Order: sequence, then structure tokens, then C-alpha cells
Amino acid sequence: MKKIVLAYSGGLDTSVAVKWLIEKGYAVIAYMADVGQGGDLAKAKKKALKIGAKKVIIGNLKKEFAKDYIFPLLKANAVYEGKYFLATALSRPLIAKGMAEVAKKEKASFVAHGCTGKGNDQVRFEVAVMSLAPKLKVIAPVREWDLPTREAEIRYAKMHNIPIEVTKKKPYSIDKNLWGISIESGKLEDPWFEPKDEIYQMTKPVSKAPAKPVYLNIYFQKGIPTKLNGKNLDPIDLIEKLNEMGGRCSVGRTDLIEDRLVGIKSREIYEAPAAAILMEAHKALERLTLDREILHFKDIVSLKYSRLVYEGLWFTPLKEALDKFIDKTQEKVTGTVRIKLLKGQAVCVGRKSPYSLYKRELATYGEGDIFDQSHAKGFIELWGLPYKKS
Ligand code: ARG
Repeated sequence: MKKIVLAYSGGLDTSVAVKWLIEKGYAVIAYMADVGQGGDLAKAKKKALKIGAKKVIIGNLKKEFAKDYIFPLLKANAVYEGKYFLATALSRPLIAKGMAEVAKKEKASFVAHGCTGKGNDQVRFEVAVMSLAPKLKVIAPVREWDLPTREAEIRYAKMHNIPIEVTKKKPYSIDKNLWGISIESGKLEDPWFEPKDEIYQMTKPVSKAPAKPVYLNIYFQKGIPTKLNGKNLDPIDLIEKLNEMGGRCSVGRTDLIEDRLVGIKSREIYEAPAAAILMEAHKALERLTLDREILHFKDIVSLKYSRLVYEGLWFTPLKEALDKFIDKTQEKVTGTVRIKLLKGQAVCVGRKSPYSLYKRELATYGEGDIFDQSHAKGFIELWGLPYKKS
């Protein structure tokens, strides 16, 4: 029998995919990557076995996700189209890598995913597999099967005794991991529709957030957050803690019409409290410790980096080269940022660093000014010279 490793989530699509692949003659190994999505992995495992998977393998990828995916993204300040912290996009190359490793160990020559033919995730999975294990053949059941609607899938599931949890009343597609949550489809397909509070999973509504601000001190070492309020925390704990604290203050919600790689505009709701807090804090520390030219150039790099992550180009030479550049810029991004959480906002209200480039004696309008204003006259004369009408 042909062995296939399926990236399995326990949701409707991948559960139906298990059955569909078996019917096509594959021996299915369900691979469940733990990237911090929560939920009951043991229950999902049972479900896969019940549907007929030969084996279920759980990959604990949370730590690698935090260290080798989230932190590089944070150092790059990568945010897609100004609003999306890329949680889903970032997890795909890692899951693909896990899948390829399992395929090698299990001597499977096929891998499969449950992505549709209209989204970005299929591209991310498959391009990652192409770069890491080009001999593997990828099967995308959802692109091939004749189940055009969710209802048809549910019917198929019922016919084959596949347990289903989605009800027709709450038909959102949700993807969650340590870095955030993505919610789409159903009523959200109307861009004018304002989602009800129930849709949000990680954040409280602003009306229920505390009226008093919460202050955080986040310490960064070379661009990486290592301490929260003076306490050393490992990457996972730090991100989880910030998700919890930020979520309580309604921080990190976004409602976005975004541009998919396949040319479609789509509407997605995101929640990413830790990402919102850490990006704000990291940028604030960079503004204190990096010189103007690096800062401005790095903005261009951020934009490119965000597209590269969104567009599935994680395992590429460009990404590797940009990481080298970014790491060089982070050598002095060390220090503490004070963040105030209040009613949906996370704002930097203080920053300090042993590498601060801020010089009060130059900036001050008060006592102790050492800036020689007489130099300004000549500077402006030459600066404006090319544009001076004669
Ligand atoms: N639009 C996001 C992206 O392409 C998330 C995709 C998955 N969303 C979901 N709700 N299942 O990265």
C-alpha cells in the first residue's frame, strides 16, 4: 500500500481527508503538529484512528515555532498589509518540515494537506515540501474531491461515520496557534458584517476590559524578549502570558480585507495579543537603539519579509540572507520597554537601553543643551541648494 503522511488537525476537512485517502488506496499516517493551537490532541488522535488512520504521530513543535519562526519574524517586524501578524502563515513551513521528517522516517513517498485550492496555505505547504524534500509527492484531497460545499462534506462525514463538531450555525474556519488566531468564512464573507463578540476566542470585548491600565516591562536581549516584569521566561511561557494579559485588555484584534497570493481579496478576523504587544515593544526599542539609516532601510526589509512569509517563501535563500542582515541589526537591540495595556491598546510609554542613541543633551530645550544651533544655518543652505530657484 502507498503510505501517505497527512497533516491532520482533527477538523472536518482533514477528518474527511483521512477517509477519502483510504478510499483512494493509501495507508494514512496522521501527523498532528502541536504549534500551540490548544484543544484536545488526544481526542483528535482517537478520532483519526477511528476513521481508519494506521498511525497518529504528534509532533511537539511549539518550542521550535517560538524560537525559530516567531522570534525571527518579530526581529523583522514583519506584519502583512500592515495588520496581520502572520500566525497561520508562519506555522505552515514548520508543519511541512515536520511532515517531511515523518515521511522520511516512515518511508512514505506521499504527503497530504487539507487546504483548499483557493487559499494561501496550499502554496505554503507545497513550496516548503518542494524545498525540503522535492521527491515527496503532495496530494491535496480538498482540491480534488467532489465535495463542493461544507454541507456536502458534512453529508460525506455522516455517511462514513466520521464524528463532526462543526454545527451549521457556527460555520467559521478557525486556525489557531501560539502566535494568534485566524477566523474566516461564514457570515464574515460579507465585508460589511460586523462580527459579534462570540466570534473572538482570545480577546475580551473592549467593554469588558479593565478600566485601569496594566503596565508591562519587557526586556529584550538582541531583539529577543527574555524577561517579563523582571522575570526570566522561556519563549513559550512569555508568549502565552502575553496572550493572556493582552487578551484580557482586548489587545490584538484585527478585521482585515487582505490580498491572497492567488489573487482573491478575502476577509479575515485576527486575534494576536502577544504579537501586538511584542511588535510594539520591539519597534520601540529599535527606535531607541538603531541609527536612522538602518531603521529606515529595515522598514523596507520588514515589508519584503512579511510578503515572503505570507507567500510561502520561508525556506528560500532570500529569507536566509535577510535573517543574517536582521540579526546583524539586532546586536544592540537590548533593553527594557514599558508597555501600557488599556482598552484594546498596547502602547509603549517608556524605553531604556545601555545602547540608547538618544542624547538628551542634544535634544533638550532646557538646561544643559550642547547642540550648536549656529551650525544649522550652513547645513540648511547646502541641504536645500539643489532646489533653490535662482
Ligand atoms: N488568511 C490567513 C493566511 O492566509 C489565514 C488563513 C487560514 N484561515 C483560517 N481561518 N483557517 O495566512
